[in-house]
Amino acid sequence: MESLLWFTLLSLTTALIFFFFFFPRKSKSYKLPPGPPGLPFFGNLFDLVGAEPHKKIAGMKHKYGPIVWLRMGSVKTMVIQTAETAGELFKNHDVSFAGRQIVETSLVHDYASGSVALAQYGTYWRVLRRICTVEMFTTKKINETASIRRKCVDDMISWVEKEARESEKGKGVHVARFVFLASFNMVGNLVLSRDLVDPESKTATDFFNAMMGIIQWSGSPNVSDIFPWFKWLDVQGLKRKMERDMGKAIEIASGFLRERIEGEQLGGEKKQDFLNVLLEFRGSGKDEPPMLSQHEILIFILEMFLAGSETSSSTIEWAMTELLRKPKTMAKVKAEISKVIGSTRKLEESDIENLPYLRAVVKETFRLHPPVPFLIPRNGAEDIKFMGYDIPKGTQVYVNAWAIGRDPQCWEYPSEFKPERFLDSKIDFKGQHYELIPFGSGRRICVGLPLGNRMAHFVLGSLLREFDWELDHAIDPKNMDMRDKIGSAVRKLQPLKAIPRKCTKF
Ligand code: HEM
Repeated sequence: MESLLWFTLLSLTTALIFFFFFFPRKSKSYKLPPGPPGLPFFGNLFDLVGAEPHKKIAGMKHKYGPIVWLRMGSVKTMVIQTAETAGELFKNHDVSFAGRQIVETSLVHDYASGSVALAQYGTYWRVLRRICTVEMFTTKKINETASIRRKCVDDMISWVEKEARESEKGKGVHVARFVFLASFNMVGNLVLSRDLVDPESKTATDFFNAMMGIIQWSGSPNVSDIFPWFKWLDVQGLKRKMERDMGKAIEIASGFLRERIEGEQLGGEKKQDFLNVLLEFRGSGKDEPPMLSQHEILIFILEMFLAGSETSSSTIEWAMTELLRKPKTMAKVKAEISKVIGSTRKLEESDIENLPYLRAVVKETFRLHPPVPFLIPRNGAEDIKFMGYDIPKGTQVYVNAWAIGRDPQCWEYPSEFKPERFLDSKIDFKGQHYELIPFGSGRRICVGLPLGNRMAHFVLGSLLREFDWELDHAIDPKNMDMRDKIGSAVRKLQPLKAIPRKCTKF
């Protein structure tokens, strides 16, 4: 008994000596980036409370410099805040930071294991990424599907017209809602060759509602991600709600998949959509899967809706907001469209290359309002020396595209909406110019960029071509609420309400 007591005392003393002497020395030799001091247990959570953490963190640059170190509860986080440091990350350390941070709600129904956006850097991600870049998002494939987007935009124009006819005089329509529905329909037709915004169909309505739930739960900050010890409690019930809505969406998408396979077996027409590409995929090398599993196909389908709808509608809502605050800029872009297209026809996707001012308006919108302000968080796969700092393995990395787009060192009058700045500039958002990275950069740059880019120009151009716009009479353009709220994409906190008047003369 006595020897057991001595043994326990000795072990405790050794543990304490180890704790007090070994740990401080170890952390001294670790040079972390500077950041605000955090509270025990909570870290810097209270520094970031609110709907606009990208703005709060951007404000820390003055005190702590271009790389800020934070602790979100127990999660170590590095935030990159300038074009120069983003360039260093994407050019020289892209592979080391090419993993993804996995959040709790993405574990339900094994979502993360089938997702492209959340896949760790490796074979599975490479295979899916190749399918996307070679089979789905090439310029040729996108051109071939122009008629789908034409039809969805025509539908959107009629919905807006109808809503405007039925609304009270002086009251605006909720612009982003119509753009969201049109984007959702475009993705539905590209992926599955079907309209999924169809009030006449119960299946379409159930699928739409389930996807809306998934978008909402995946965009809500989750206590379980910050304090993983409590994840079993699921305090906010987010995992439970995600389980329910994703289960429903997967069940309905499984029905679409079954229908397609059975239809083709019965000799039905072969559809030329993303689902067909996924079903026909055959792995070539020995480390590739011979074909995609049903689970992987279903998750891919859901991901296209999640990635493509909110981002597009957020972009258009901000573009319209900025234009409505600047009537001269609005008049200029509308005049360009009228001049190039003439007076008799609609705007087509092929017109975009002849509309430099419209393209500048879209770029300026992406600069000021990147829909995914921190990009999708990366994860450090190993201990890394980064710009003189020691970044431990498992660190979550945010790239603050919002702060970079407003950095006075890169941009004159950074907070002003001035599309002219892009007219004689080579700066683009395709990942080569680190001062403008709304789609990210490096290996994990948005794989849907060519489609997202096309949709943004076509939808915005068509809204401007078909209607003259005016703000809801209750809104004062000089004191408009420009706050945003972060979810799965950043949205306007107060949704834009604007009055459309169908143009009869162009
Ligand atoms: C305005 C439109 C869009 C914006 C601003 C946008 C933005 C982004 C951003 C910031 C990322 C993360 C990049 C990084 O981590 O460096 C991303 C990833 C991704 N986006 Fe987009 N996106 C848009 C449209 C689309 C569309 C239309 C699709 C497909 C239908 C799509 C599919 C994806 C996928 C699958 C990924 C994950 C790529 C990977 O991890 O390898 N996006 N997007």
